[in-house]
This record gives sequence, structure tokens and C-alpha cells, in this order.
Amino acid sequence: MTELAGKVALVTGAGSGIGRATALLLASRGASVLVTDIDLSSAEGVAETARDLGGGARAAHCDIGSEESIAAAVETSLDGFGRLDILFNNAALLRSEVVEQDINILTISTAAWDEMMGVTLRGTMLGCRYGVRAMLRTGGGSVINTSSTFSLAAHNTNVAYGVAKSGINTLTAYVATAFGRQGIRCNAVAPSLIMTPLAHRYLPEPVQRLHEDSSLTGSLGAPEDVAAVVAFLASDQARFLTGQVIRVDGGTLAHQPTYADWRRQVG
Ligand SMILES: NC(=O)c1ccc[n+]([C@@H]2O[C@H](COP(=O)([O-])OP(=O)(O)OC[C@H]3O[C@@H](n4cnc5c(N)ncnc54)[C@H](O)[C@@H]3O)[C@@H](O)[C@H]2O)c1
Repeated sequence: MTELAGKVALVTGAGSGIGRATALLLASRGASVLVTDIDLSSAEGVAETARDLGGGARAAHCDIGSEESIAAAVETSLDGFGRLDILFNNAALLRSEVVEQDINILTISTAAWDEMMGVTLRGTMLGCRYGVRAMLRTGGGSVINTSSTFSLAAHNTNVAYGVAKSGINTLTAYVATAFGRQGIRCNAVAPSLIMTPLAHRYLPEPVQRLHEDSSLTGSLGAPEDVAAVVAFLASDQARFLTGQVIRVDGGTLAHQPTYADWRRQVG
């Protein structure tokens, strides 16, 4: 499939997990991809694999906690490929010192809360700002932000993460609204548990089984499941889709909270 031929994409947090799978899928569909990550060496590895798949790909450092770094990454895309058509704002704050105390409003320090908002939410907004500016030069493009099912229903953990991701949902609607008539579409994907290195790092096997129990497909998500939706949103086939938050969750949020217990007890 070469439906993205001629398009240029930038992916943040593309050295691993969902970002990596998406960068590779976009490249395999013909896009030229700027593979960025806070960890440059992982981005370089992914760019090399993307080139093997036939796509034009380059790697660049990008820390979404830094406005200069985001601006520079977009500039690198314009310098290297001449334009920007697709932006996948995938990175989030995943620093273990913050993640481990992000349980509820009593366990998280104010500094950690601010850092979550300052990287995950502000970084996504800045990605949109610089990405949209670049896209407007060539008549538009598609921005895809990464939310989470934690933004759509509360849990007894990850309060700051969930609030930052819900901000991303609203940001998505605002960007779609402000720039729709200038050819910009903006959507978000909201995955449930996806088996990436992040999930393996923080969620022990019994917790993974709990998530599986609530999935209507009976399985957990893979990075490629999210990548497929992002690639669709990036393509012209999704030309009438904007301002949406699309759950990629195996139906986890489609049902009543009693679903898993009911299935076990009633059948
Ligand atoms: N895995 C899941 O279950 C899940 C569910 C819902 C949403 N998400 C979201 O998906 C996105 C990707 O998560 P993943 O599971 O693929 O994680 P991952 O740990 O596999 O990959 C994350 C990548 O982001 C990079 N990164 C970390 N901080 C960064 C920063 N400040 N700037 C740029 N890059 C940075 C890391 O180096 C890493 O390569 C995140 O936004 C996460 O919140 C993941």
C-alpha cells in the first residue's frame, strides 16, 4: 500500500512502543518519516528499520518537555523533507519518579503534577502549534494526538496522567475547530492497555489479566492496533473525520463496569 506516498510525517516518542509501530507503518505506506524521540539512539534504530521498509526516514532528537526541541524537530522535518503533512503527537511524560507517585491527589507531589501537565499536555499543545504552523504553509495536514482511556473514565491510579490526557481531548477539539477551514484535521486516539515496553514495565501479569477480562475482544491491544488507526487518520480516506477522540480499546469502555464479573458468574 502506498496511500501515503508523497506525504511527510513526524512522530514523537517513536523510539519504542506505539510510536515505533506507527512510524514503521507510515513508512511502509509510502510516507517520509521523521522519527523523533528523547532517546536519539532508539529513534535512529527505528529510522533505519523504516528505510529498510522502503520509506524515506530520518531520525532526530525531540524532548516534548522543551519548546525549543519541538520547534527544532519541526524545522528538521521542513529542512529535510520540505514539508509536513502528518504529525503524530505520541510522546508523554513517562519518567518513573513521576509515574510511581501518580496514584491520587494525595500521593502525587505538586511538582510531579506540574511536570505531568508541563510535558504531556503542554508538549502536545506545542507539537500542535509548531506542526500546524508548518502544515499551513502547504495547505493543511493531519494532526493525531495520543490520549488514553484514562481520560474518559477515572481509575484509582494515574490521576495526573488521566487529567493531562483529558486536556489533550479538549485541545484536539480546539485545534480541529480553529484550523479546519485551513485544511487541518486534528483527532486523538485513546488506547486502553497496549502491550508496549511501557506496559510491561509498570503492569504485572495479574493486572494485565484484569484488563484482558474487560476487553470485549478477549485480548489486549498491540502497538500495531493503534498504529493502524493513526495511519487511517493520517490518510486522505479520513478526510471527513476531525475533532474526534477515537477509543482503541477492544470495547473496554463500551460496557457496564459489571461486565467481567457478570460474564464469569452468569456466562
Ligand atoms: N501502552 C499503553 O497501554 C498506553 C495506553 C494509553 C495511552 N498510551 C500512550 O501512548 C504513548 C506511547 O506510549 P508507549 O506505551 O508506546 O510507551 P513506550 O515507553 O513504549 O514508548 C515511549 C517513547 O517515548 C519516549 N519519550 C519519553 N519521554 C519523552 C519526551 N519527554 N519527549 C519525547 N519522547 C519521550 C521514550 O524514550 C520512548 O521511546 C504515550 O502517550 C502513552 O501515554 C499508552
